[in-house]
Amino acid sequence: MPGETIRKDTPPRVPPHLDDYDEACASFSWEQARSRLQGLPGGRGLNLAHEAVDRHAATDRATAVALRCVRRDDTVTTLTYGDLSRATSRFAHVLRTLGVGRGERVATLLGRCPELYTAVLGTLKNTGVVCPLFSAFGPDPVAQRLRLSDARVLVTTAELYRRKVAGRRTRLPGLRHVLIVGDPADTPQGTLSLTALTDRAADDFTIPPTAPGDMALLHFTSGTTGTPKGAVHVHEAAVAHWTSAYYALDLRPDDVFWCTADPGWVTGMSYGILAPLLHGATVVADEGDYDARRWYRILAQRRVTVWYTAPTALRMLMRTTPRTGPYDLPASYDLSALRLVASVGEPLNPEGVLWGRDVLGLPVHDTWWQTETGAIMIANFAACDIRPGSMGRPLPGVEAAVLRRGEDGRADTSGGRVTVLREPGAEGELALRPGWPSMFRGYLHDAGRTAAAFADGWYLTGDVVRRDADGWYWFVGRADDVVKSAGHLVGPFEVESALMEHPAVAEAGVIGRPDPVAGNVVKAFVTLRPGHEPTPETRRDLLAFARRRLGPAVAPREIDFDPHLPHTRSGKVMRRLLRARELGLPEGDLSALERTETPG
Ligand code: PRX
Repeated sequence: MPGETIRKDTPPRVPPHLDDYDEACASFSWEQARSRLQGLPGGRGLNLAHEAVDRHAATDRATAVALRCVRRDDTVTTLTYGDLSRATSRFAHVLRTLGVGRGERVATLLGRCPELYTAVLGTLKNTGVVCPLFSAFGPDPVAQRLRLSDARVLVTTAELYRRKVAGRRTRLPGLRHVLIVGDPADTPQGTLSLTALTDRAADDFTIPPTAPGDMALLHFTSGTTGTPKGAVHVHEAAVAHWTSAYYALDLRPDDVFWCTADPGWVTGMSYGILAPLLHGATVVADEGDYDARRWYRILAQRRVTVWYTAPTALRMLMRTTPRTGPYDLPASYDLSALRLVASVGEPLNPEGVLWGRDVLGLPVHDTWWQTETGAIMIANFAACDIRPGSMGRPLPGVEAAVLRRGEDGRADTSGGRVTVLREPGAEGELALRPGWPSMFRGYLHDAGRTAAAFADGWYLTGDVVRRDADGWYWFVGRADDVVKSAGHLVGPFEVESALMEHPAVAEAGVIGRPDPVAGNVVKAFVTLRPGHEPTPETRRDLLAFARRRLGPAVAPREIDFDPHLPHTRSGKVMRRLLRARELGLPEGDLSALERTETPG
């Protein structure tokens, strides 16, 4: 836990919401935080879309800009809160007309276009459940998530539908309606034109009563093994979205906020859509892909004030714009509107924090959370000193702890009890005390894995951390085998399963190989079936096969052939050992290895 502290001796330009950390924690209550939201008129409950859109549209903020969507060709589509309220009402009516109702899952498979935002918020208005899918997923992950979520409706484009869904549609009997965004003349067989339907829909919609505990969002996340897990979130999550954006991102209504994450992932949903709208701020969305010049241009032209991005993106910018120069990019763009930069999703190395300070003029504030927490739990705050390399301290209302680990690397829960490690610097599994409003309410249809995530009154995060003597948390690594690649969580099992559908593959083991930019790249070790040769052609064929099925966000980037993958006695491929060998690390405790593989 080394390094120089970045002092905040000069107060930020705008006095931050959280100026005294200890005081903010001591005086905080979730009850009070709830009172920051309005609730549905007539005491009919709490609905995320009412809080994010209609509440503002009913005031003089109706004419304030809610969404500025920069299209791929650089044209900009702008929606005020009034526009967004009407567009989301039309979408809600479309669902109602189709007979899609409360609790039913509406999946989105879209780029960051305006229709994505109206579909998400319109579904919430109709008390349906939004299940966002990343548009760079291939057909396998898409079909699996549509099936696991019991999706009734899919909102997508004709092109994405043809490429990723049409071929598997017959295996998705529960998927009743596919709504196509874009030109009504291009509506593939078995789908409906969303444009035609919304054109006919009324633009006022009365949100039905919504209980704070009603399901609102379903986010898929990956574990070490088994199918992806659908983390269930409820409307009351709005309280934590609002509060975390208030404290950790210091958001306020006059902010122009850009979260670079795709809403197919939890960051892009909680902070790319919901939290900034809950604050009545302006959301900037970029339909385009990463490009250093484009990004600097958006920051400058859109006058972004608060920027939430990912360490991988920052590392890519650092390459084009080194901290020590020579560079001219930021100098040629006016970033003077920017007042806070934060990141999430993977470790932010101290160099990233300092790069922000020296190149953007603002240090990067790391934040920590995960799909299951629904909102930021640990952060570096605008008013507080930064210890570069640390994730920061728990938000007001969040109780965190470091738990002693057992032999499997996870928290030791023997006898149903856990041990909280209090000595500074002790390493253990990060745990959170349940009770914050955006905590996931379980994995859909998976009581077993839900129960395994809790022990002795704690939620177990799967991350290994240290806490220093002053309460700052430092990320050490994952306690399991999931891979973080370019900020995206990839389940090794999903990749192994896809590879094993190739006729040449007998078995596969997947790990993350550390990479200076992406954090990790997905790497597979493959045992071939007899009759198949470990040639460059086979490798190319397997890489292409996996990419076609899984999409570029999940597919392995590297494949090595290994005729003798190491196994545990129960027959599972030992990814931990594959990783140790790949990195040239000590192979550690190999007692779980199957006998023939145990050295000596
Ligand atoms: O391992 C931690 C890592 O990302 C995981 C959560 O991933 P996901 O559910 O996809 O959510 C991503 C964004 C909210 C965590 O368990 N992670 C997240 N933030 C950090 C991090 N690792 C290190 N430092 C962080 N700041």
